[in-house]
Amino acid sequence: MNVSRITGVGMYVPENVVTNDDLSKIMDTNDVWIQERTGIKERRHIQKGDGNSTSVMGAKASRIAIERAGLTPYDIDMIVFATLSPDMYFPGGGVEIQEMLEMRTIPALDVRNQCSGFIYALSIADQYIKTGMCKHVLVIGSENHSGGLDMTTRGRGVSVIFGDGAGAVVVSESEDNNRGILSTHLHSEGKYKKELMLEGPSTGYWVPEIMADNPQENIPYYPYMNGQFVFKHAVVRFSEVIQEGLEANGFKTSDIDMLIPHQANLRISQFIQHKLKLSDAQVFNNIQKYGNTTAASIPIALTEAWEKGKINKGDLVVLAAFGSGFTWASAVIRW
Ligand code: UT7
Repeated sequence: MNVSRITGVGMYVPENVVTNDDLSKIMDTNDVWIQERTGIKERRHIQKGDGNSTSVMGAKASRIAIERAGLTPYDIDMIVFATLSPDMYFPGGGVEIQEMLEMRTIPALDVRNQCSGFIYALSIADQYIKTGMCKHVLVIGSENHSGGLDMTTRGRGVSVIFGDGAGAVVVSESEDNNRGILSTHLHSEGKYKKELMLEGPSTGYWVPEIMADNPQENIPYYPYMNGQFVFKHAVVRFSEVIQEGLEANGFKTSDIDMLIPHQANLRISQFIQHKLKLSDAQVFNNIQKYGNTTAASIPIALTEAWEKGKINKGDLVVLAAFGSGFTWASAVIRW
């Protein structure tokens, strides 16, 4: 079996910074509430006319990751694109990346597992490399949340949390048996699908039905989140799936050099850190600057941690996520 290794990382966020004070001008919220409950100070939002979209941001992050891997887009054998906010209902964003980066007519796969999407996508790349089907797989997480949020007081419980951005990695075949993606662990529990969802327009709730119902609360075309319920499940599943990954490889929490949790809420990350008895140096968070960018949050955090020199050759890096579905996942990597 081949070994797969992350050989390049990249990220892109729009220039437009939206602070908590900016939000308090358009809805009934405030900096203290947002920071106390989530840790978020600011996030990035696409601006009309700045040329960005989910796929455009994904392409920008990808170019950096490919260059850092010492490759060109022509070398990539497959694209796996995780997002819940594609530019179009169909086709998915993967084919847009193939076009934008002028790649060969390689397979382009779209993954819809929300906050766990990046680790699901990474897992697919890992399998294609390990079985020898591909040499280089581009894995992307990108989200354009801002255009689809309810930016009024009615939507404040959700809209203050989410931000826009993209991250990407190249996963390559490697001959070094001592380094690489050691394992990935994926889970789902669909009975909680309605606790965090965007219901329509969809084949279950078409535009004419929504217009006829004309709902004033829980509007189906804005995301709905049962925040406290999600929070309670998140802290349990995050810890479980991290332990599962460590145990599968014979490691203990003290062996972790860097845990990169999906940036859902700083309080969730801190809870997990405390529960697993990890030091500040063992956990990387940047939700303070970018908010929750769903499928993009892990590759953005991974890239920033790497750029800051916090991830080095030989480090044990653990990625973990929980979100809508519910789905949750982890990846254990010897960098
Ligand atoms: O990434 C995907 C997974 N997502 C998550 O893991 C998110 C998990 N959940 C959470 O992070 C938290 O539940 C939230 C940050 C979303 C909310 O925090 P909370 O402590 O659960 O607050 P709450 O929803 O229970 O709301 C408490 C109060 C309510 O007012 P009353 O009813 O007590 O008078 C809300 O109306 O805070 C009010 N509120 C706000 N106030 C100011 C809700 N949103 C806001 C806001 N600004 N933005």
